[in-house]
Amino acid sequence: MKLIRLFVFLFALPLFAQQGGMWIPSLLEGMNETEMQNLGMKMSAEDIYSVNQSSLKDAVPHFNGGCTSEVISPKGLVLTNHHCGYGQIQSHSSVENDYLADGFWAKSMSHELANPGMSVTFIVEITDVTEKVLKETENASSEEERQKIIEKNKQAVVENSPKEKWETNRVSTFYDGNQFMLFRVETFKDIRLVGAPPSSVGKFGSDTDNWTWPRHTGDFSLFRIYADENNRPAEYSEDNVPYTPKHYLPISLDGVAEDDFTLVFGFPGSTDEYLPSVAIEQLTETINPARIGLREVALKEQDVFMRKDKKIKIQYASKYSSIANYYKKWIGENQGMKKTDVVGKKKEQEKEFMKRVKAEGLQNEYGSILSDFDKAYAEFRDYDLAYNYFSESFLRNVELLRNGFQLYQLEQVLENRGKQSFKDRKENLLKRFKSSYKDYSAKVDEKVFEKVIEVYANKMPQQFVSSDLKQKNKAELTQEIYTNSALTSYKSLKKLMKGNPKKVIKKLNKDEGYAFIKKQAERFYEDVLPAYQNKRLEIDALQKEYMKAILTLSPKDARIFPNANGTLRVTYGQVKGYSPKDAVYYEPVTHLEGVIEKYVADDYEFDAPQTLIDLYEAKDYGNYADDGKMPVNFIGTNHTTGGNSGSPVIDAHGNLVGLNFDRVWEGTMSDFYYDPVISRNIMVDARYILFIIDKYANATHLINEMKLVHPKAGDNAVKKKRLIKNSQ
Ligand code: ARG
Ligand code: ASP
Repeated sequence: MKLIRLFVFLFALPLFAQQGGMWIPSLLEGMNETEMQNLGMKMSAEDIYSVNQSSLKDAVPHFNGGCTSEVISPKGLVLTNHHCGYGQIQSHSSVENDYLADGFWAKSMSHELANPGMSVTFIVEITDVTEKVLKETENASSEEERQKIIEKNKQAVVENSPKEKWETNRVSTFYDGNQFMLFRVETFKDIRLVGAPPSSVGKFGSDTDNWTWPRHTGDFSLFRIYADENNRPAEYSEDNVPYTPKHYLPISLDGVAEDDFTLVFGFPGSTDEYLPSVAIEQLTETINPARIGLREVALKEQDVFMRKDKKIKIQYASKYSSIANYYKKWIGENQGMKKTDVVGKKKEQEKEFMKRVKAEGLQNEYGSILSDFDKAYAEFRDYDLAYNYFSESFLRNVELLRNGFQLYQLEQVLENRGKQSFKDRKENLLKRFKSSYKDYSAKVDEKVFEKVIEVYANKMPQQFVSSDLKQKNKAELTQEIYTNSALTSYKSLKKLMKGNPKKVIKKLNKDEGYAFIKKQAERFYEDVLPAYQNKRLEIDALQKEYMKAILTLSPKDARIFPNANGTLRVTYGQVKGYSPKDAVYYEPVTHLEGVIEKYVADDYEFDAPQTLIDLYEAKDYGNYADDGKMPVNFIGTNHTTGGNSGSPVIDAHGNLVGLNFDRVWEGTMSDFYYDPVISRNIMVDARYILFIIDKYANATHLINEMKLVHPKAGDNAVKKKRLIKNSQ
């Protein structure tokens, strides 16, 4: 037995991740705690997550479902990224009052701006409920039935687990369906905008610098949580009061140095670290290039208009950013996959895996799993490609198509669920259209449509493209639709949607734009989606087995972390530079000097505010400088992903030292394979944030709310540095 364990241990070491990992905060005791303390952490696992006393987790809410944020004052002040608050900042902006361009600072609490529909969610408690969720699944006759039982069990756990009346229970899936956790959460709905720097600080470098290092972006914004008089969640009301948090993060004025311990606490959205090599091959060779190609044409068209029209620039700022973000990410991801040879590495792991399966006598269980993957992915390829082309074109990048697709779903609602559901959905849609058409320009969208449909018709696996779409001249098609369709303005669309359900559907079907969308959508629903979903289910079931095998074949304390799934996680590492290519080494910290180096007056991406330049010239940095220089951004080995934006970067003692907002381009394949050599997360130095709030915006009332600390005051190295400085 001992021998086998030893063998497993030796074998399993090179099999999976030695570094990286996004860990479940309630399960840090043991291996993670030791690892973190070895890296320099002075806290215990209990300081990070505790149910019995306040802990770091009580200061880290999920921000509006997609980002992370942290409470930084006893009055519910919340810090997140500028790009996470971007939609809100944009929606309060107009050409006259352009908070995107000029920034926004509420003079007092009564000036803070409400954001209907927004929320932040705190995690109250995490409990393992695997046994309850997998109850009676062994006897299921098919994968579908198994999934049904799981859903039923999850529902029962959600309903039967204790909670306060303002709380919610949720169950999330870990390790591809091998573990289930219950989250008791508390969601606040009155969240107000407090402050944001101008985009020339908060988005400095824009898309050119996005996903790259060296970086110089002050990517932060401030919000405040409001609660009812009992400090409980409540809908927006003037009577609400600032929320008193269970915990808020003190902010360190001492900054970071290379090799310092950092912990990033947040809500990473989704990763896939245990895919077989065949999946990575398909992603990098087929799926990513398709998505990149399609987005490229959409972006090019929008960009032309945004550069010459101020109104369009504001209207399309948020949309453009979000399309551009993953467009660029996928390019970097593909490069990183190649550089690290992820496919080659995975193939090596798979060889080892098979050896191990054999050695343990588990051929019956897992002997064919890799060849099953090969077969399933080969069959999946065209459907997955078609799925991506359809969703990128009809659900994402062309607004008329996206809106039309929602109307198509409305027609389905009438057919499947009747008149009342139709009416409710229609009201809802009209509300959504009202706000989205505010930022709609038919002339921009028309150009995007023409180019996207061209790509769609030519590049989509041809068996799924109707012959009339293939033959039709795309410029003509575009012109016909944008001249005749009511979907090109809110006014005409609202008129079209007047009347009883039957009448609305009749009018819709006569609309040229709608008819086009319906035809394509029907093809998609008939020819692509059912097969796509079947194959997906098959692949997911294989992946669950593969994950189980990996867990079984690894020693108990192996570093096998669950994929990100939008739940709260801890990742940790050190401040560290990296070498992106031969002969080049990147330092881990940037300074205001770099902003000035990149600055181009009135540039679309690299303009900087005059006040900032003046502060730089006067070296007027207040308490926030490091050896006379103003730090801006830094990088580290923390394993992060989308959703970690806005995550607090915490020092060895539990203080805020930075704000996570991005990763370096070469390392973005970390969603599939974390490479400690080139994967780095990018953070704003907390002192830069304080400097902008205090010296740039003069919002000292906000600084006064915070708790600023000097955790390194007793540190000999720092003392020495100060001593030398003072004697100079
Ligand atoms: N790349 C970062 C993230 O994924 C920042 C995105 C900001 N958007 C932009 N297009 N510059 O969220
Ligand atoms: N920028 C990302 C976010 O918004 C973070 C990342 O992907 O590294 O969550």
